[in-house]
Amino acid sequence: MKAAYIEQTGPPDVIRYGDLPDPKVEGAQVLVRVGAVAVNPIDTYIRNGANYFELPQPFVIGCDLAGTIIEIGPEAKRFKVGDRVWGSNQGLQGRQGTFSELCAVDERWLYSSPANVTDEVLAASALTGITAHLGLVRHARLEAGETIFVHGGTGGVGAMVVQISKAIGARVITTGGSEEKVALARSLGADIAINYKSEDVDVFVKKVAPGGVDVFWETLREPNFDRIVGYLAERGRIVLMAGRDARPQFPVGPFYVKGCSMFGFVMFKATPGEQRAAADDLNRWFSAGRLHARIDRVLPLSQAAAAHRLQEENTLHRAGTISGKIVLTP
Ligand SMILES: NC(=O)c1ccc[n+]([C@@H]2O[C@H](COP(=O)([O-])OP(=O)(O)OC[C@H]3O[C@@H](n4cnc5c(N)ncnc54)[C@H](OP(=O)(O)O)[C@@H]3O)[C@@H](O)[C@H]2O)c1
Repeated sequence: MKAAYIEQTGPPDVIRYGDLPDPKVEGAQVLVRVGAVAVNPIDTYIRNGANYFELPQPFVIGCDLAGTIIEIGPEAKRFKVGDRVWGSNQGLQGRQGTFSELCAVDERWLYSSPANVTDEVLAASALTGITAHLGLVRHARLEAGETIFVHGGTGGVGAMVVQISKAIGARVITTGGSEEKVALARSLGADIAINYKSEDVDVFVKKVAPGGVDVFWETLREPNFDRIVGYLAERGRIVLMAGRDARPQFPVGPFYVKGCSMFGFVMFKATPGEQRAAADDLNRWFSAGRLHARIDRVLPLSQAAAAHRLQEENTLHRAGTISGKIVLTP
């Protein structure tokens, strides 16, 4: 099979595109003919040598996939040959990744693809959609009628947070780095979208949410807790899921006197059952046309190194040149 893989960690140039042996299915794995994959920031950290866990050698990069099952392992029970499936959580915790024509995936990480939704859309929404759902439903317990603020309403996770919050029935305030991104965030359902490069976001949020926001979802890697806690309503909740190296100051008094709480998580440590519960809701919302993927561009799998370079420029260096996901097709 053709695959995008690495034999050593380093800059995007370490990604090779070429032939690897077809994977063999074992136990409860199924073999998926990949239709589409998507890039996430964590793919670039792992490729760069973040050393979160040991990598198989060679290591096929990537977490997300959508495709069609062509073989069933001896202990797999959930699916049959020909079923369309999507999933994430590959290329993590020692598992092989997804950027290849064929993937052997344990069936517990796969979900049935709705007939009316393409592989591109499902791959683009896999890790980000499950992350947003876990944070909003399992951790912050966002409720209808509440107000949420999220940084970056057209980013990978931000676009999902905006849409899932609307599906739950909350009021959404978000930001974008250009007028086009502000318009896009509104088209995804945001009630209020602010251009953070030309407007004073603090002043704006105080005006539109004078009583504070119930949930603050931070997508930035360097959170400013004086601002965040200042935005929160009584009993407000903060969701943190980025910035492993951040060591910011923290306003202890304002935080506890308002009765606030804070949740941190990584999606890949959620159990298969927790991730499946998220995927079931995402599938329902996708089928009903209530959830849409923000795909910035679709590239051939052979362009995996270029895709990583582009993702890295945006996530680490804030180039602002993508709005949504980079999807690749074998
Ligand atoms: N814990 C987990 O399980 C988990 C899961 C997924 C992702 N993550 C992490 O979450 C972070 C975001 O991931 P992602 O996939 O959403 O990345 P992304 O697609 O690169 O999005 C980043 C967003 O941040 C916005 N942004 C950058 N600088 C900003 C600023 N100064 N003010 C306001 N907004 C700003 C960008 O907005 P503009 O483009 O409008 O500038 C963009 O929308 C990454 O660090 C990733 O590693 C963690």
